[in-house]
Amino acid sequence: MIDVVNIQTQPVSKSRISECDFDQLVFGKTFSDHMFVASYDGKGWQDLKIVPYGDLSLSPALSALHYGQAIFEGLKAYKSQSGEALVFRPVENLKRLNKSAERLCMPTLPEEIFMSGLTQLLSIDRDWIPSKPGYSLYIRPYMFASDEYIGVKPSENYIFIIFTSPVGAYYNKPVKVRVEPHYTRAAPGGMGFAKAAGNYAASMYPATLALKDGYDQLLWTDGVEHKYFEESGTMNVMFIINDTIITPPTTDSILKGITRDSVLQLAKDWGVKVEERPVSVAEVMQAIQAGTLQEAFGVGTAATIAHISVVGYEGKDYTLPPVAERKFSNKVLKVLDEIKTGKAPDPHNWVYRV
Ligand code: COI
Repeated sequence: MIDVVNIQTQPVSKSRISECDFDQLVFGKTFSDHMFVASYDGKGWQDLKIVPYGDLSLSPALSALHYGQAIFEGLKAYKSQSGEALVFRPVENLKRLNKSAERLCMPTLPEEIFMSGLTQLLSIDRDWIPSKPGYSLYIRPYMFASDEYIGVKPSENYIFIIFTSPVGAYYNKPVKVRVEPHYTRAAPGGMGFAKAAGNYAASMYPATLALKDGYDQLLWTDGVEHKYFEESGTMNVMFIINDTIITPPTTDSILKGITRDSVLQLAKDWGVKVEERPVSVAEVMQAIQAGTLQEAFGVGTAATIAHISVVGYEGKDYTLPPVAERKFSNKVLKVLDEIKTGKAPDPHNWVYRV
């Protein structure tokens, strides 16, 4: 049970929902009517409110804009057949947000504020949850430093916001990825495990180079030797070789993905062998060439499962087995979707109902 906190609500005078084409949604471009806002003043969280989604008025000297004290989360809500909002594992997102906050010297957020804000926001904007299969309401909680100060030090003031966005598919086809031999997303001792805005900024230049060469994303390798896989694009990565799921362990340079955890839990429930251990580029490339690599896919909130169709390595492209033949990733995608939408039993109590 969550403690109820006092949230002031200022509803929109006119909803924008009739302007939204729920059949043509792309990822991240449409925003629901309201947002939840809380402020931290160096002592505690205060001024909790739900207000119309809209622009913020910020100082040009805003600390976050200069030194990057900014973190975020991503989670999704689905509509059940009886019209409830079903949210997938929200407390896990809060735990990770608070781990990111500690790493970036930001205040943590109490569970009752996060969960009350989320619950009241979804109650007021429930009609924005798409019901079309494959669609959902993407929820974006985030926090940033709000001191008006350009000295380098942790800010005293912070703003936390949750807004929501009805979305369609993140990728509309299997992805072509290139093994990155030079650039790194994150390094040991860095903040790769945190969902920090700066990690995503660091990934954009190398990803753009890959895009120019016809790839959709990168297969990130470790920041020391570039010999071990870390992530795929903005997702965790899994390979299936000889009927065993092999995935890198979540170190300080790899995000502790909630979809990653859910996929591994279901695999264990089904008796599928799982190995969380360093996965070398050499091992995967040999398996591709020997025909023992059965599946490769990214796992993340936005896409759930992103099948990898082609791996580019040292100037050559390797085509992986056809997606239709991939038993595990297709099954886990289907079952996760059914759990999230309330169509299948929820054996691990992952779904929070609003
Ligand atoms: C995810 O899929 O989990 C992500 O973080 C993607 C998001 C950055 C759009």
